[in-house]
Amino acid sequence: MDSILVRGNGPLKGQIPIAGAKNACLTLMPATLLTEEPLTLTNAPRLSDIRTMTQLLGSLGAEVAALQGGQVLAMSSHNLTSQHADYDIVRKMRASILVLGPLLARFGQAEVSLPGGCAIGARPVDLHLKALEAMGAELDLRDGYVRAKTSGLRGAVFVFPIVSVGATENALMAATLAKGTTVLKNAAREPEIVDLAQCLRRMGAQIEGEGTSTITIQGVDRLGGATHPVVTDRIELGTYMLAPAICGGEVELLGGRIDLLAAFCEKLDAAGVSVTETDRGLTVSRKNGRIRAVDVVTEPFPGFPTDLQAQMMALLCTAEGTSVLEEKIFENRFMHAPELTRMGAKIEVHGGHATVHGVEKLRGAPVMATDLRASVSLILAALAAEGETVVSRVYHLDRGYEKVEEKLSACGALIERIAG
Ligand code: UD1
Repeated sequence: MDSILVRGNGPLKGQIPIAGAKNACLTLMPATLLTEEPLTLTNAPRLSDIRTMTQLLGSLGAEVAALQGGQVLAMSSHNLTSQHADYDIVRKMRASILVLGPLLARFGQAEVSLPGGCAIGARPVDLHLKALEAMGAELDLRDGYVRAKTSGLRGAVFVFPIVSVGATENALMAATLAKGTTVLKNAAREPEIVDLAQCLRRMGAQIEGEGTSTITIQGVDRLGGATHPVVTDRIELGTYMLAPAICGGEVELLGGRIDLLAAFCEKLDAAGVSVTETDRGLTVSRKNGRIRAVDVVTEPFPGFPTDLQAQMMALLCTAEGTSVLEEKIFENRFMHAPELTRMGAKIEVHGGHATVHGVEKLRGAPVMATDLRASVSLILAALAAEGETVVSRVYHLDRGYEKVEEKLSACGALIERIAG
């Protein structure tokens, strides 16, 4: 297993290009199942999660060609051979459940393995299933699989009891081919949902209200092909915005947009980090003096994203004063805290709260990545630490960050991969 070696060496200077969003791409790819015509995605990120989704779609008989080094995904589902998503692939990645809605809508049946739990919490899929049931799906849960069938999905009004990104995406895709009008209330408002709706509209779907908590879909008989650019990855963007915040210096994030991360940018401002818009993206630098403590509560969009909580904690470890981070989306998402503590951070975790007492300086140490965002928070901390840090189990990192060593080295960081 590979690891990453980082030697903390002060301020960063340079530019980092931001890739297309992993989470958007993972929901746009299953949209190919809705049509027999080609769907092409541009600005796709090159990540292992994308390869897993490619493998899953391939197992259903879809063709997915990765062109231009993987930045263009040319997909076709004109000749699907199966509606069975096997446990062997689904267990690798929870987003696999996103094939359920499209398969059911186009073929009237699907058999998809339940994704099971994952390191950051229980993460059930009950809301995905309830929304499809409301549209007329008959479901049978047996032997770890959900078997779904329908004689034809019908439009319905469905109110999500809690906001779920994935369940909104599954329901939205299914509703595009349902008979009549579907209204999704308390829907997720994330930019990735807006991106999916825009792509579906290019394919001929009739959708209104994406980006608000009520999405209305008028079902159509069939969808066609389209070419769609994947939206910027706001989580990769926020992660790299924290690099100059934590080590000093100035970095320009190419393709960065404040509107994707307004709540996060407000917290950075309060912590003493300057963010300015440029022609090509955003420039981030630390204002004078030490980072100041701030309190953070994770919430659905437009609130502070849970996927940036670990990285923000890395910043606050060296802030002046005490910060409290409250995790409201996932119940077990502070696994990075004990690893940061190994680097000299002072953190107490009580249930869904972590209290971080800022220290002057972190020290390098051997640490272990426990999940995707936790792993990159350790790299950020290591950039600012004194001495050497080795982050092991970086396969988590490769799920969601492309060329992380290259992007940070280009700004002067001392970071390298050690093949293991
Ligand atoms: C997506 C993102 C993930 C991000 C999360 C929250 C992808 C591939 N992943 O995950 O990176 O951290 O949004 O912004 O886009 N829940 C249920 N029942 C369900 C579904 C969800 O109880 O059927 C709960 C979850 O356990 C969690 C909350 O709802 O507590 C929000 O989860 P959800 O928005 O669905 O996250 P994902 O779509 O899995």
